[in-house]
Amino acid sequence: MTTVTVDLGERSYPICVDAGALAQLGEHLQKHHLTERLFIITDDNVRPLYGDKVRHSLAAAGMPVEMLSVPAGESSKSFEQLQLLYTGLLEKKADRNSIIIALGGGVVGDLAGYVAATFMRGIRFVQAPTTILAQVDSSVGGKVGINHPLGKNLIGAFHQPQFVLIDAETLTTLPEREIRAGCVEILKYGYISDAVFYEQIAGNLPALFSLKETALLESVLRRSCSIKAEIVSKDERESGLRAMLNFGHTIGHAIEAVTNYGSFLHGEAVLYGMKAALYLSWRRGTLTKECLDEAVAILAQFNAPALPDLDHRALLSAMQKDKKRSSMGQQWVLLHDIGRAYLTRDVKEQWVEEAIDFMKS
Ligand code: NAD
Ligand code: GLY
Repeated sequence: MTTVTVDLGERSYPICVDAGALAQLGEHLQKHHLTERLFIITDDNVRPLYGDKVRHSLAAAGMPVEMLSVPAGESSKSFEQLQLLYTGLLEKKADRNSIIIALGGGVVGDLAGYVAATFMRGIRFVQAPTTILAQVDSSVGGKVGINHPLGKNLIGAFHQPQFVLIDAETLTTLPEREIRAGCVEILKYGYISDAVFYEQIAGNLPALFSLKETALLESVLRRSCSIKAEIVSKDERESGLRAMLNFGHTIGHAIEAVTNYGSFLHGEAVLYGMKAALYLSWRRGTLTKECLDEAVAILAQFNAPALPDLDHRALLSAMQKDKKRSSMGQQWVLLHDIGRAYLTRDVKEQWVEEAIDFMKS
């Protein structure tokens, strides 16, 4: 097993990537002295697949665990589910020494992490992510939170887990569309910080989508986590560098918002956002036409659902409402080259309109 470290002084923690690791959760908890009362928070899809198994294996190791489950899907990142989870914990006599295990995708990780950040002013938690997106992105870095009726992820905190346990075997039950969408975030790491990694992913997309090559899959998960860990270690609170992780997200979030979070998975919207950001990088003169064409050909291999005829004004207005936007205007993550990202506000509205057309083409 290889471990990646998120280096945050006394709040540092390991990310363990190992096929079958979920069966060893008890040993990891013991190693980290997390043996007080355990509470798994999961969702109704993941519970029958992995929740009961994990609970039984922990109980067999003399570690009883309670389980709380929320309905699957983004709508569970809500005040209502938050309150139900607090109530469940209180009824089951959770206390300040209790430990939460977030078992599921990014929705469960964000919600359970926010419960952990706030219950009794903050208790310890562990991330056991079961989607690609959660394994390479949301479980690492300590951003936790829920949605507000007026916008996504508007209520939240930074609360780092005690460790992250990544078991690639759990991905085998994911729908193929989720796998492809998750791989978009993997490709993102190549674009922003590692050209060699990018080539490795771009040259192996069918193998990655099939999940059949375990060694390749694990090395890609590990490298993605190490890129994110390095960025988070340098800029936990997103005062600069961490914003690079938003490559493709400026327009991606706008696509999700104007389609009411119903038509596109997050990764699919980010894929179109990356296409637009690649165009803007070329338009600003920092990326060659050859790189742009090659990158767009790679993105086409994801076979994302076609974009409907989205209205430019609606997209621009959604971008203006994005919480990442400041009074200084929209910040863009663009590329000098594959593997070299930069931040800029110097993007003309006309270029953005062109980028939207390019993205739709
Ligand atoms: P998700 O948690 O909704 O999971 C997608 C679907 O897959 C759900 O239906 C879930 O029940 C199911 N599922 C999960 N694991 C499974 C498995 N192993 N087998 C079969 N089905 C499984 O969605 P997601 O894409 O994992 O995460 C999206 C969320 O992550 C969004 O809310 C987004 O805001 C958040 N996010 C957070 C961060 C962060 O830094 N905190 C970063 C990126 C995204
Ligand atoms: N997903 C972006 C971040 O963690 O900062």
